Amino acid sequence: MSDISALERDLLASIGSANDEAALEAIRVSALGKKGSVSELLKTLGGMSPDERKTQGPVINALRDKVASAISDKKIALADAALDARLATERVDVTLPIRPEPQGTIHPVSQVLDEVTAIFGDLGFAIAEGPDIEFDDYNFTKLNIPPDHPARQMHDTFYMAKQKDGSSHVLRTHTSPVQVRTMLSQKPPIRIISPGRTYRVDSDATHSPMFHQYEGLVVDEGSTLANLKWVLEEFYKAFFEVDSVELRARPSFFPFTEPSVEWDLRCDRSVPGKITFGTGNDWLELAGSGMVNPRVLDMCGIDSKKYQGFAFGGGLDRLAMLKYGIPDIRPFFESDLRWLRHYGFSAFDLPTLDGGLSR
Ligand code: FA5
Repeated sequence: MSDISALERDLLASIGSANDEAALEAIRVSALGKKGSVSELLKTLGGMSPDERKTQGPVINALRDKVASAISDKKIALADAALDARLATERVDVTLPIRPEPQGTIHPVSQVLDEVTAIFGDLGFAIAEGPDIEFDDYNFTKLNIPPDHPARQMHDTFYMAKQKDGSSHVLRTHTSPVQVRTMLSQKPPIRIISPGRTYRVDSDATHSPMFHQYEGLVVDEGSTLANLKWVLEEFYKAFFEVDSVELRARPSFFPFTEPSVEWDLRCDRSVPGKITFGTGNDWLELAGSGMVNPRVLDMCGIDSKKYQGFAFGGGLDRLAMLKYGIPDIRPFFESDLRWLRHYGFSAFDLPTLDGGLSR
């Protein structure tokens, strides 16, 4: 009897001090399992005399019931404690904003690229693309800049090692090779705009070794310089979000256009640190352009007797700097989060002509 009381005390004590479900289960197996201490006691009932069984039976059965119910109570208590601990660590702060403010911003170059493609898309231009690593032939030769031509020196080129087959590649110095790719693969009428990365060995506050240009090309039977001027006027009006602009043409030279024209935009720089487009007495140099040189048309498989075209191109980074008042090009590519937060745009405001370009 006293052994049974001692066993009960020990079992209840260890059940009380079990601090997780695994320890409790070990106690259950050691007491109530097949070979557990209480189960062994129950087995002794079979060998007892009827009188002995009468007195011992209720005692041993009561012990089994007590231990079983202590284990089940402890199991519930442990589960409650585990839930309380979880709730304490996983508490929801209902004062937090429902949707956190987005952290990332759209880079000004991406913004301007989207603006430029929205405007030219609206004017009926298709987007064309070319690779950053370009054939020397497309970047220069087919644009009427043969090897050893002095015009190659106008571009500070990153040359790449010659291939085994003799062909050589460069990091494209301008987006004009996309003109070549387009003319080689499409028949007129052609109307494309091609924004993209370009590379030159160049670095100061307004020049970067990697920068962005956009290129426009129109080839048709009757395209003229007047059409070119109209397209540029429409583009600058939409881009700088003004009702009217005035363009001034200056004679220029690009081997792939003849004649070549550089365009300046009337602006007002009389207030320091501010620039206004459409009015004023200052001029801002913005784009190179010209009628596509007939030699280029012929080299790209387009009959220059039947077709003529115009092309234009300029810097996207430069457009971003002008429109958004960014004085230095170098931080564009330094990934400084403070700069990106300051000059970046919301990812939810996609530029569209009717919705607004730069809200
Ligand atoms: C060209 O690259 C011609 N392909 C443009 C063209 C296209 C002419 C079609 C005629 C017909 P240019 O070398 O001037 O032209 O460069 C155009 C613009 O690219 C420059 O006005 C400038 O805004 C930008 N640019 C040139 N080099 C850099 C540089 N290192 N960093 C940033 N922007 C640059």
